Amino acid sequence: MNSQFANPHSEHMAALREILGDRGILSGIGAESYEEGARFDKGKAAFVLRPGSTEELSKAVSYCVRNAIHIVPQAGNTGVVSASTPDASGNQVLLSVDRLNKTIELDADNRSVRVSAGVLLSDLNKALEPDGLFFPIDLGSDPRIGGMLATNTGGARFLKYGDVRRNVLGLTVVLADTEGTVLEFGRGLRKDNTGMDWKHIFIGTCGFFGIVTECVLNVERLPQETATALLVPAGSQKVMPLLRVIEDRFGADLTAFEGMSRNSISAALEHVPSLRNPFPRGEVPDYVVLLELSRSRLPREGNETLDSELASALEDIWGLDEPLLADAFIGSSKEMWALRHAISEGVKNTGMLVAFDLCFKRGDVMAFCDRIKGDLVGRFPDVGSYEFGHVGDGGIHFNLVAKRDSDTARDPQFERSLREWVYDIAVNEFGGSFSAEHGIGRKNQAFYDKYTPTAIRDMAKRLKEITSPGGLGAVRLG
Ligand code: LAC
Ligand code: ZN
Repeated sequence: MNSQFANPHSEHMAALREILGDRGILSGIGAESYEEGARFDKGKAAFVLRPGSTEELSKAVSYCVRNAIHIVPQAGNTGVVSASTPDASGNQVLLSVDRLNKTIELDADNRSVRVSAGVLLSDLNKALEPDGLFFPIDLGSDPRIGGMLATNTGGARFLKYGDVRRNVLGLTVVLADTEGTVLEFGRGLRKDNTGMDWKHIFIGTCGFFGIVTECVLNVERLPQETATALLVPAGSQKVMPLLRVIEDRFGADLTAFEGMSRNSISAALEHVPSLRNPFPRGEVPDYVVLLELSRSRLPREGNETLDSELASALEDIWGLDEPLLADAFIGSSKEMWALRHAISEGVKNTGMLVAFDLCFKRGDVMAFCDRIKGDLVGRFPDVGSYEFGHVGDGGIHFNLVAKRDSDTARDPQFERSLREWVYDIAVNEFGGSFSAEHGIGRKNQAFYDKYTPTAIRDMAKRLKEITSPGGLGAVRLG
């Protein structure tokens, strides 16, 4: 072979092919889809590993650690902060769990499921549906379960069901040490206080401390009755009072309270042609809340349906001395959720997107949005705000977009200075989080370093040395 074209990694590839077989290793064109992330990031992997079992994965990891090869784990590759793609060096090995997709074992009595990390969320829910169950983390995309654990994703129904962390009852993890040590934490129990609950260090830490290969998840009963409405609050400062009135009225039946600004709705309508504009004369209001109520039991005879309970609640809200609502539409749940879930994709297509995944104490979310929008025009005149998200839990995707081909979009310092400005207000002034549910990736590494106290980063570093001393992950938490 002409040495100019010899693959510098061929010796390692041959050794790993011995462990994983031909299907377990990819390079060249076959590797490309693993190298490119969901949102504007593209790296270069030395090669891609696709183990078919925890044992194979452990052996491959052990080989890499013994040979000082850095591993970046990847699940569904739907993340948006570059936490699961390789850097541009061409030296990192991408390890995909996509072939760990065989196990979905329901324990109906325990209302839990054992599932391997490469199973798609949609496949898990398809398998659970005949038993009237589902995994209640609701997302617009279709990730693999391992990635959901890595980011501790929250989704649109957090308000009722919590995040991934709250729903993990056990997990199997492979450590990046010379042995590729396999550890199991938790056995599907909901109560277990026989020591430190170690599984939590592997959730929400983007594969920094180890690679999750399997887990046991709590699952919930599918809703039997749902009512959905689009509410137009009478001004941004009425959003929280409205949420509190709804919570008083519906308690645990409140499943989602999602905010969508006019710009973000318009972006979804424009870029996803299958959506129908649900507003009278097509006029999109300034701000809209998608409200969902649901119950996991059928209506009892003689009881009001949820739809009619919702209609009478809205009538009562209209009658309040303090006006909270400017308008409201009860309608098709499917259409309303299609609109909500199309926003992320729609906004991505409007110009040069700088995405923010923030969280505040609930009472501060709208004040933060008003504050930034008020100052934006003066500071960044070519930039529009496209905020939407989970206002019911304080989470907001405060996306800012520079007009395509504007001077601002072309300025190489723009993204950095915009991020510094927004994060400073979000974290320092409002006491918010700069990463609510999308994890830490290369995109927000610098801000992790800036806002995480040194003592905590040192602790993460020491923990990394005793769990996975080998090179692991796209980010560095310590
Ligand atoms: C959403 C994703 C962006 O909430 O987290 O649509
Ligand atoms: Zn979200």
